[in-house]
Amino acid sequence: MSTAAFPEGFVWGVSTSAYQIEGATSAGGRGRSIWDTFSADRAEACDHYHRYRDDVRLMKDLGIAAYRFSVSWPRIFPGGSGEPNEAGLDFYDRLVDALLEAGVTPYATLYHWDLPQALEDAGGWPERETAHRFADYAAAVAARLGDRVDTWFTVNEPWVAAFLGYGSGIHAPGRTSPADAFRAAHHLLLAHGLGTQALRAAGAAKVGGVLNISPVLTPGQVGDPGRPLSEEDAEAVGRIDALVNRQFLDPMLRGSYPAELLPIVERTAGLGHLRDGDLELIAQPIDLLGVNYYTPLVVQAQPSEPADPAYPGSEGVLFCTVPTAVTAMGWPIVPGCLSLALRRLAAEFPGTDLMITENGADFVDVVTGDGIHDVERVSFIEEHLRAVRVAVQEGVPVRGYLVWSLLDNLEWADGYQRKFGLVHVDFATQRRRLKDSALWYRDVIRRGGLLESRPKRPTLETVAARAGVSRATVSRVVNGEASVRPEVRETVLLAIKELAYVPNAAARSLVTRSTNSVALVLSVPRQGGDQLTAAVVQYVTSVLEGAGKQITLMLADTAESHRRIVQHVEARLVDGVVLLPPDRGDTLAERLSRTGVPVVLLGKPAIASLVPYVDVDNAGGAAAATEHLLAGGRSRIGMITGPLDLIAMQDRLAGHRDAMRRAGRQPLLAPAELTRSSGAAATRRLLGDDPALDAVFAATDQLALGALQAAREAGRRVPEDLAVVGFDDVDAASAVVPGLTTVRVPAAEQALALARLLLSRLEGRHTESVVLPARLVVRGSA
Ligand code: FCB
Repeated sequence: MSTAAFPEGFVWGVSTSAYQIEGATSAGGRGRSIWDTFSADRAEACDHYHRYRDDVRLMKDLGIAAYRFSVSWPRIFPGGSGEPNEAGLDFYDRLVDALLEAGVTPYATLYHWDLPQALEDAGGWPERETAHRFADYAAAVAARLGDRVDTWFTVNEPWVAAFLGYGSGIHAPGRTSPADAFRAAHHLLLAHGLGTQALRAAGAAKVGGVLNISPVLTPGQVGDPGRPLSEEDAEAVGRIDALVNRQFLDPMLRGSYPAELLPIVERTAGLGHLRDGDLELIAQPIDLLGVNYYTPLVVQAQPSEPADPAYPGSEGVLFCTVPTAVTAMGWPIVPGCLSLALRRLAAEFPGTDLMITENGADFVDVVTGDGIHDVERVSFIEEHLRAVRVAVQEGVPVRGYLVWSLLDNLEWADGYQRKFGLVHVDFATQRRRLKDSALWYRDVIRRGGLLESRPKRPTLETVAARAGVSRATVSRVVNGEASVRPEVRETVLLAIKELAYVPNAAARSLVTRSTNSVALVLSVPRQGGDQLTAAVVQYVTSVLEGAGKQITLMLADTAESHRRIVQHVEARLVDGVVLLPPDRGDTLAERLSRTGVPVVLLGKPAIASLVPYVDVDNAGGAAAATEHLLAGGRSRIGMITGPLDLIAMQDRLAGHRDAMRRAGRQPLLAPAELTRSSGAAATRRLLGDDPALDAVFAATDQLALGALQAAREAGRRVPEDLAVVGFDDVDAASAVVPGLTTVRVPAAEQALALARLLLSRLEGRHTESVVLPARLVVRGSA
């Protein structure tokens, strides 16, 4: 089989960062970083500080050519300034020597988000001084490692550090000030410029910066990037692109800020922090631009939408979810956008060498006796490498590709649950295990590229030939028929296992004559970042595919699409339908139920007997939340209800009412739409109606986040003056300060129950709806 080769000298590598893997947070005189303060997780991470030799050996065995690691600033300057800490530098000395000895080229990143806490205490990135401290730090590290490290990166993803750290507050240091976020962004750029100068002065051979590059598209452009846009959508796309990509690209590579950005900065933060000469400093010539790519940003114009805190200036823009496959993070998988991003960078910044400094994916891994078969990660990386190759063949100067990440690690605010590694880490024992993706990557490196065509999947015929039986016998085994003799069954099962055969539609339908297809019908969520939908798409797809079903994703967004879906199902092109979430009026669920094809639903429909469904106990969860507030001595509890045409919202209100009635109290209600700003407005109304209000129960976390904001603005301390409880347990709930007490909706369990419910229905078994318990998660807010 021929190889889809990459250019001679193309660098194959992996990336990590200090805080995410090192652990040993007080060894060798290391100081405190903002992440030690911010994170609730144990900080041992992968204990790489002590196990670096083993990890270097792993890289050597895999044939890794380059390793991008980051230096922990608080190891070098524990107090942020003064004299560098020799013991800290010694560690990187040892690491670099071990790498060179193993034939792995070290690439050092200086800032991967672990600011010394002392510098945050002095004002952090919103203060200009921090950029100067960074230059001192760069000089100290380069003075020690510069004789052996050729390639240096200054800052990693300054957008994330500035806007998640100081804007939305979901990253350390957890501040939520749009003005600080813009100031931080500018000073991170300044740090890049000053740091580049310091590295050059120390004789560094190659210097670059690393940016998170996310192509910005409308939902319609995801499958069709050339699709023309309305004026409003074009403006929304351009504005978000300026905030996320060009805010950093343009100063670094052109010495200017994008024109549409400056008015946003000015009205949010003023322009006092931009000084004459800064842009020249920032635009130091660089040798390499590091591109971190994971997923595109999908947006559209939506006049009423408030700004997202991570994107100050994004008023009137809706961040959308798209019905593509997603990783376990819920990030849409769109490899074509990587080609798009690279093509664009080459066109706009000709002459800049590029390197993919991060690309990879979080998927749920299963450790089995014979390995970790992370097929999804393999295909993610493979598809993205193909996208890189497309760009390379067009002449884009991409010099290398580094997988994020070598090891499963501590994924910032998300903790240890995220699995990005090629190598599995058991955090109880620190044992490392190679996943299939690591072995696959090793082969790619050996070969210098991908296989031109993917190896053919084994077919029913191959299994029959291997087992020495007929195709019909194989298909009878696959379909679990009893008529096969046990010895024959065993031989067939062994062949299936050895060949890693996945029964496909054709094999199953040999006996069942079914289509083996299942429609997964999504209605477009009105809010971006819908974790439940993402989980359902992921788990339902993997469970049903594992059972040999093919999934057809169908989008139910217009009356016309409803008609087409019903037709498709009526024509028996699918065996079953998973519908989520039900449209508000339930007409689609009802029409589908009349086709006679098994249908299951996420969320209780208006007529509960219509179709079997999976839901959580919304009423029970709301009652538990309310009882928690009552038990904590709160007596004047207001509830922000969501839109009451949604059944879940009706149930949450009913649960709250019941609990209040049992306690002999009158409910105090404020209706709201499902947005954060609407939650804030409702809270202001509640506080206006009852100034002695001491608690708010919000029907969703988004509303509760709005309540926290309104409480802060009204000068109420949470939880002392006002307790706040939400519902859903979205990611942001654990990341805000104080953490939000909320009711957890078990997304994965719902998804699994939904898939199982459909499978039982397809097998013709009697099925009943499933209602899962919703559990109260107590954090600081109540
Ligand atoms: C990037 C970060 C990296 C890791 C991946 C998943 O934004 O640079 O540390 O968190 O995302």
